Amino acid sequence: MASAPRMASVSTSTQTLSEFSSDVVVGLSHPGQKELPSKYLYDEVGSALFDVICLLPEYGLSRAGMRMLERYSGEIVNRVPGPVVVAELGSGSGQQTRWVLEALARRQRVNYYPIDISGSALFRCQQELGQMDMVSIVGFERAYLDGLQEVAARRKDGERLFVLFLGSTIGNFDRPAGDQFLGEVRSILREGDALLLATDLEKPVPGLILAYDDPAGVTAAFNKNLLARINRELGGDFDLNRFEHVVRWDEAERRIEMHLRSTVWQRVTIRHAGVPFHLREGETIWTESSHKYDPREVVQMGERSGYRCAGQWFDTQWPLAQNLFFAV
Ligand code: AVJ
Repeated sequence: MASAPRMASVSTSTQTLSEFSSDVVVGLSHPGQKELPSKYLYDEVGSALFDVICLLPEYGLSRAGMRMLERYSGEIVNRVPGPVVVAELGSGSGQQTRWVLEALARRQRVNYYPIDISGSALFRCQQELGQMDMVSIVGFERAYLDGLQEVAARRKDGERLFVLFLGSTIGNFDRPAGDQFLGEVRSILREGDALLLATDLEKPVPGLILAYDDPAGVTAAFNKNLLARINRELGGDFDLNRFEHVVRWDEAERRIEMHLRSTVWQRVTIRHAGVPFHLREGETIWTESSHKYDPREVVQMGERSGYRCAGQWFDTQWPLAQNLFFAV
């Protein structure tokens, strides 16, 4: 077997500094709740911290995903007739994907296109999966839909696109935006293309809070790194000691929210942004949401967005669903 990495990478710096800067300005200028887009949590440090989160005993989500794909990939893949090419939205380091690719590689050569805005996550994905027999990887350092469009353009006639959206990353979107996103994915697909969507399910709140507020403080570091990143890349002067990691369950929206709470009145300047920002004592910056679902609701989400559900699989230890959809 060849030992050279078999991943070519397609990257342009679409995630420019000025986009980052203007997103930060917009989010911190909101008259009500200040917010920062969660996608910026995943720089090199943030992606590495997220990999540590996945090792925490309190955070069972990614282990459940692994367990399920180890167990059900064969069955899932059998329901998606070949030949298929695989695109993954937000591949991260690609650990869960191994099982799906192995199952597919038993019947065909597989072109696998991981799409991630984090170059370092793609690099680790290549390390993890680059040596698999029968699998070739071309990574796209892109936003999801841009990347998917490029992958769709490379697909040959007669090939089915099999899109993976694992880890319950869809939970970052609020419910209307989640529907819209699935619809946008659908508009890039052809009838008969498949989507495997993982969705974290509702579960008792105390355990859920602990999963996002672990006692070792890894998730707190992951959250605060967003401010450190703004300091590094945009010349900010956030004092991380003046912020606390806060996790809330919003019962009406059925989501976990992560915030950074300012412990004092303070003024922050960000060189790239030009304008100073003020935070009141106790005021928060909302940095991420993680929606939790009911399995029937997920079927309906798919149906509203142009798919039919061909199967759902569940983990019993950590309620999570793998949902298989076909574009109709
Ligand atoms: C990668 C978005 C699925 O919401 O559970 C984990 C991110 N944030 N701990 C999640 C996350 C804090 C994670 N997703």
